[in-house]
Amino acid sequence: MHSALKRVVYPGSFDPVTNGHLDVIQRAATIFDEVIVAVARNAEKRALFSTEERMELLRQSTAHLEKVRVASFQGLLVNFAKEQGASAVVRGLRAISDFEFEFQMALMNRKLEPTLETLFLMPREEYTSLSSRVVKEIAQLGGQVAPFVPAPVLESLAKKFGSA
Ligand code: PNS
Repeated sequence: MHSALKRVVYPGSFDPVTNGHLDVIQRAATIFDEVIVAVARNAEKRALFSTEERMELLRQSTAHLEKVRVASFQGLLVNFAKEQGASAVVRGLRAISDFEFEFQMALMNRKLEPTLETLFLMPREEYTSLSSRVVKEIAQLGGQVAPFVPAPVLESLAKKFGSA
């Protein structure tokens, strides 16, 4: 039955998706029936990739995962999660440095929507220092990012920064 499906929303900027994000998506897919990867249409952050580009890169990078759906949202995350019938939000926690912001966000989201739980998943430790920001900086400066991102992202970064 439809309502019995356990759905989780994995929100983020995904500018662009990294292997660390993919690790979290895969872990969430082992727990939930459906993982909705939700790109925030957030004007506040200056993005390298447009929302549509970020969604397409996520789609290509998760094509092998049948439980995963890619979406975007505007406005409050809790409203989107509710609309989607999700029972939880998942976020990745790399290190203590992530904790303060994530804890604040989880508690605020709980105040806004007490029925929505936030779950944290820890990606593999080799991804502890990985972030979209660092990947973009390395790629822009001509460094190798192949170990950190899925193939479609590698190709798109090369196009953006005009390297091979
Ligand atoms: O990948 P990011 O940039 O860490 O993701 C942050 C994101 C998009 C999850 C967060 O900014 C968010 O949920 N934005 C939607 C607006 C919202 O609900 N704000 C209230 C959070 S307490």
